[in-house]
Amino acid sequence: MKVFVTGGSGYIGSHTVLQLLREGHEVTVLDNLSNSSEESLARIQELTGKEAGFIKGDILDAALLDRICSENRFDCCIHFAGLKAVGESVQKPWEYYNNNITGTLNLLKALSDHNMKNFIFSSSATVYGDPEVIPITEDCPKGVCTNPYGWTKSMIEQILMDMAKADKEWNIVILRYFNPIGADPSGRIGEDPTGIPNNLMPYVTQVAVGKLEKLGVFGDDYDTPDGTGVRDYIHVSDLADGHIKALKKITEKAGLCIYNLGTGNGVSVLELVHSFEKANGIKIPYVIKDRRPGDIAACYADASKAEAELGWKAEHDIVDMCRDSWRWQSSNPEGYRS
Ligand SMILES: NC(=O)c1ccc[n+]([C@@H]2O[C@H](COP(=O)([O-])OP(=O)(O)OC[C@H]3O[C@@H](n4cnc5c(N)ncnc54)[C@H](O)[C@@H]3O)[C@@H](O)[C@H]2O)c1
Repeated sequence: MKVFVTGGSGYIGSHTVLQLLREGHEVTVLDNLSNSSEESLARIQELTGKEAGFIKGDILDAALLDRICSENRFDCCIHFAGLKAVGESVQKPWEYYNNNITGTLNLLKALSDHNMKNFIFSSSATVYGDPEVIPITEDCPKGVCTNPYGWTKSMIEQILMDMAKADKEWNIVILRYFNPIGADPSGRIGEDPTGIPNNLMPYVTQVAVGKLEKLGVFGDDYDTPDGTGVRDYIHVSDLADGHIKALKKITEKAGLCIYNLGTGNGVSVLELVHSFEKANGIKIPYVIKDRRPGDIAACYADASKAEAELGWKAEHDIVDMCRDSWRWQSSNPEGYRS
């Protein structure tokens, strides 16, 4: 298939582009490089011997999107582009709503105008808010998000549902990711956050590599087995594979479908830290800090719908995730800049 991938040079996008090329699909990436480097695509070419087309551009540029969609016949668009730092979204709500929502509306308009109505969207478990029941199934009601980033995901989902309801030609798969970590086992591509990382694993690996002194663990008095927050960490290569399966679903023309992509296993912050230490033989000094406002105690997926309907299941365990994250970080201490 010819696949248009927005945000394709970023963390999850690059791992998905790698799999798409390996599966024989043709890929065009659009990215403004605000949080990524074109080097990821060069390395994908080195790994696959195949080249993804690349357009440096912005989803806020409606004229550009229209031009791209008039010049190409894409079989599907996978939409990763977006701003994703939870804390920053609280400081800069307008930028987040504008980038994520206006950008997505522009993209949907260009695709629709050129009659390319197959769409896969990167959503997040954050749309469930603080879930009443775990594991979380797709039937759990969406909740109150604790930050503007989460609301952009929730609102875009609503926009997609309304569009699919109004126009039956749309085929849309919404993928609600749990917590992606890890890197391609080659160690050539991985997560390369700019500045101080927002997420746990890049923080752990930057402590391990000596760039940061200690890990801050936010809260050890939650109602969880060891008191620290529990999340569903999923290997980014498994997540990428979920998109390949979603592409197959798109060809069934099933309207709008929603799937959780998680492992179904809850892992606490301290369990993750100890798994990392064990997998890689490195000590991670940490300090317990106050809870962070907006963090919830526990969140993990019931991923059985994706298994039943997409034939997808996470294959990698937490040890693989820790080992592959470290292989990437230790061989690229400065990310793509090294
Ligand atoms: N990483 C996570 O924990 C996680 C969890 C759930 C959902 N998601 C979603 O998955 C998607 C990919 O996340 P990621 O972790 O790979 O993030 P990322 O920042 O590595 O990738 C996003 C990409 O989008 C690009 N981008 C941002 N705004 C753009 C714009 N206006 N025009 C063009 N390109 C733009 C960035 O340069 C970047 O390459 C995002 O939509 C994110 O919200 C991520």
